[in-house]
Amino acid sequence: MNKKVRVLLIGAAFSADLHMDGYARCTDIAEVTAICDKDVSRVEALAERYGLRNYKVYDNYEKAIAEADCDIADICMPNFLHCDAAVAAFKKGLHVISEKPLSTTVEEAARMVEAAEKAGKKLFYAEDWLFAPAMNKALAVIKEGGIGKPLYIRARECHCGSHSPFAQTLKYCGGGCMVHLGIHPVGFMLALKEGSWTELVAMTSGGAETNLVHKQMEGEDWSACMIKFEDGTSALLEANYVTTGGMEDVIDIYGTEGCMHIDLTFSSAISCYSMPGLSYTVEKAEITTGWSKPAVDEKFNLGYVGEIRHFMECCLKNQDAKTGLRGIDGLEALKVVNLIYKSAREGIKIVNPKLISKQRGSSYCEK
Ligand SMILES: NC(=O)c1ccc[n+]([C@@H]2O[C@H](COP(=O)([O-])OP(=O)(O)OC[C@H]3O[C@@H](n4cnc5c(N)ncnc54)[C@H](O)[C@@H]3O)[C@@H](O)[C@H]2O)c1
Repeated sequence: MNKKVRVLLIGAAFSADLHMDGYARCTDIAEVTAICDKDVSRVEALAERYGLRNYKVYDNYEKAIAEADCDIADICMPNFLHCDAAVAAFKKGLHVISEKPLSTTVEEAARMVEAAEKAGKKLFYAEDWLFAPAMNKALAVIKEGGIGKPLYIRARECHCGSHSPFAQTLKYCGGGCMVHLGIHPVGFMLALKEGSWTELVAMTSGGAETNLVHKQMEGEDWSACMIKFEDGTSALLEANYVTTGGMEDVIDIYGTEGCMHIDLTFSSAISCYSMPGLSYTVEKAEITTGWSKPAVDEKFNLGYVGEIRHFMECCLKNQDAKTGLRGIDGLEALKVVNLIYKSAREGIKIVNPKLISKQRGSSYCEK
């Protein structure tokens, strides 16, 4: 491989902007050589924002994958397109970054993992929480025994609703807020506990008419899951679209000898009172007047910069990403989200099928 990883960015809107910021900060090892979006004006706007020159523009991802001069395809398109684009990229012999969730169904996510294995290429799963500097500091505190043994963790991603029209339908999104936002706390907890969950029980608002606010949305707009792990730790994982005032990415960790509160969104060093309003404060804030905590380097603090550099380094070394950031981790997170939906739908507690099949056959549900 060349000294720099050549990147084909597919999708040029919200998440592509998050990734572009990462590429712009690792030009020593990566260069974006092509960008694809069915709306070419978005490609041009994105490139303009980051001062990108000498890149190819595509409006069709199949053509882009077939023709672009690149080593990796970075998929920032809606969830229902991840599988098709990833499989095509692996056939071309590229590595792949997939945004979360890995896909809309477990079957498609498994196809992506299989296609990577068959091609001998890497599938990187973009779970940015694992690169948030505050999160890594918190994990270091746990590792040094600073709060004793963690007993209970509460983790949530919540805001007022997705900006993207595809997030409104089950077919294009794969669910509501739990698959779209809750996949972060789910993926984070699974990475922390190396997948060793034992049982879970969940509730959701149910979708459409039964939703709290977003009646036009097919998926749920409120969800919560209690989950237990083999080491006795338990967690409450939450996602909702009924939270006003900006996105909440919050984790509370209670240990035998202390506790920690991590706030990825509102922990800015700036408090500002503005009567005219600011151009931007934090992600998904509806208004910017009055008191706010304007984010300082939001993309860095949410983990996107570290995530992109890590994937580029792995790509250069042809090695897997860290735990929580591999294709198989994205697949596991999606499996758990689907079990959360099953628990909520059927009103049952779910026991980890891997543990159950070890103990007593194949059924994994308990009333
Ligand atoms: N990690 C995070 O925090 C985070 C944040 C936001 C979104 N995401 C994920 O990123 C992915 C994209 O979401 P988004 O918010 O960027 O959506 P978006 O709607 O802002 O952007 C998607 C882009 O894909 C383009 N597109 C759609 N169909 C296409 C096609 N057939 N060919 C080429 N381009 C096509 C659209 O024109 C659009 O510009 C989703 O999987 C989402 O879950 C992750």
